[in-house]
Amino acid sequence: MNYRIAVAVSGRGSNLEALCDALPAEVAEVVLVLSDRDAAALPLAAARGIATHRLRAHDDATEWLQALDASGAELLVLAGYLRLVPAEVIAAFRGRVLNVHPSLLPRHGGPGMYGERVHAAVLAAGDTESGATVHLVDEVYDRGQVLSQLRVPVREDDTAASLAGRVLTAEHRLLPAAVLAAARAGRPIVFDLPHAASAATELS
Ligand code: GRF
Repeated sequence: MNYRIAVAVSGRGSNLEALCDALPAEVAEVVLVLSDRDAAALPLAAARGIATHRLRAHDDATEWLQALDASGAELLVLAGYLRLVPAEVIAAFRGRVLNVHPSLLPRHGGPGMYGERVHAAVLAAGDTESGATVHLVDEVYDRGQVLSQLRVPVREDDTAASLAGRVLTAEHRLLPAAVLAAARAGRPIVFDLPHAASAATELS
């Protein structure tokens, strides 16, 4: 079994790297990295020998689908991808598009909620915990079915930056686990990360 995965990115690509490092080659492999911009993640992918595609028009479904079809990808993972994926792409990959979001959805999601804004909102709300969410992607930002979450504590002296770092560590565990679960099941599934409860302590 070798599950073929495409990853869409807009940023530095730390989730992409965590995913590549965690996937046993005989189970799953990243075959394509797409980006809507000249993201730092693209040369990282190229250095690993992964095909890359810089989208000329991020809202052109035909461009997406041609790149995805050519790669033979069975799953599309959004790992820090900051734009809406065209509806025709979502329809073609219905139930096979995952996103990792740096909060416990449905809290602190939706349009404009990315990066430090998410963590600032968690602190402003006085939440005592945050975490990472992996969910299915549909046509609306951060609305699709939650597949799994990994919680981390919010500390009294946290800044948005310190909380972001703790949540990112959780993302780097949760996203590979979600992709491995999908590879083993043949499609994304709801799952619990083993030892998720103690992970919150480890990550604190
Ligand atoms: C992560 O926090 C991700 O959840 C969010 O953007 C960040 C991307 O980081 N959507 P990276 O590019 O994977 O390092």
